[in-house]
Amino acid sequence: MARDLAPDWILKETMAIQAQSAQWFKDKQAEFAGEKPLTLTVLGCGDLGTAILSGIFDSLSPSDVPDQAKALAPADPSTPARLPTRFSACVTRPESGKRIQDELAKYETKVTIHENNNLQAVQDADVVILGCKPELAERILRGNEMRSALQGKVLISILAGVTEAQLSSIIYPKGPAPAFGGCRIVRAMPNIAATVRESMTVIAKSDPPLSEETDKLVTWIFTRIGRVVHLPSENMDACTALCGSGPGFVAIMLESMVAGAVAMGVPREEAYIMAAQTMRGTTGLVLQGGEHPALVRDRVMTPGGCTVGGMLVLEEGGLRGTIAKAVREATVVASQLGEGKQGVNGTRF
Ligand SMILES: NC(=O)c1ccc[n+]([C@@H]2O[C@H](COP(=O)([O-])OP(=O)(O)OC[C@H]3O[C@@H](n4cnc5c(N)ncnc54)[C@H](OP(=O)(O)O)[C@@H]3O)[C@@H](O)[C@H]2O)c1
Repeated sequence: MARDLAPDWILKETMAIQAQSAQWFKDKQAEFAGEKPLTLTVLGCGDLGTAILSGIFDSLSPSDVPDQAKALAPADPSTPARLPTRFSACVTRPESGKRIQDELAKYETKVTIHENNNLQAVQDADVVILGCKPELAERILRGNEMRSALQGKVLISILAGVTEAQLSSIIYPKGPAPAFGGCRIVRAMPNIAATVRESMTVIAKSDPPLSEETDKLVTWIFTRIGRVVHLPSENMDACTALCGSGPGFVAIMLESMVAGAVAMGVPREEAYIMAAQTMRGTTGLVLQGGEHPALVRDRVMTPGGCTVGGMLVLEEGGLRGTIAKAVREATVVASQLGEGKQGVNGTRF
């Protein structure tokens, strides 16, 4: 009966009107506060771009922030005065647009999909997150129209290996960005754990430094999806290796521990959970407990016990040097990829 009274299309339309009203309300709040609402565009919105949007939507959602005004009126000094309230995402294929809409459907905040319409999306934006594959940056950013669309805006690049200077030379092929009114490029390196809000994002310190408000905004965006550190841009390739590639390295360690347990008869499914939780617990001791990893290691190493026996096997196998070398190698490859070199992995040994 209730179904007859409220068919699907009525419910959908009602919800759409509700979402529009909520957006209007947010925009008006910002306007009354004397601030035009900020528009954030993800230029190339794939896995990471969608994870960033979903982190932001989570923190803007009324269930997370009981009073909507709280999202706009900063509660702590690290929150920027102006937060984005309008969002758009650029893709090339209709199925990508649908994937984004589906993944973000649970939030009240809505995203506008721009399919093969980058220019319009950047023109409408105040802040742009460049989230395409590194090799597409040139095609997407090159051109007079895109340069003027980016004028006076903040472009946050999450592209692995691509430096701020390289992006600047794509946008401004005839010379450096104008000191006033040019596009401000910021480099940030999140990781795949952004999808579970556990990213480790490294933001490159800008030279000259960003304005306080822009700095707060960039930091705010990435703290929606995990932790943030700020480091000089010279460290970015090593950070890409440590944090960007890191989940891959850690996953191998996790799999190896599982393989050992399965070999000794532990059921596979439980072994994955146990290994993953053991890793999480260990990182918790370091991150929340503030313990040095050497102390954690020492605490579990009972004289004559099983842990020391296992550890010595790891040392004999050169695990420490091997992992450190993997990070060093990935750093070098990241730097060469950033220079546009292809097939780097096949040429270094
Ligand atoms: N994944 C990681 O662990 C990681 C870690 C750190 C940094 N990064 C960096 O993050 C960036 C994105 O990675 P990802 O894994 O999210 O990639 P992805 O899933 O492949 O996303 C790329 C997106 O760009 C869109 N796109 C392609 N061509 C476009 C164009 N001409 N105009 C507008 N949009 C276009 C694609 O949409 P269509 O498919 O519809 O074309 C897709 O949605 C990469 O540069 C990567 O280096 C990734």
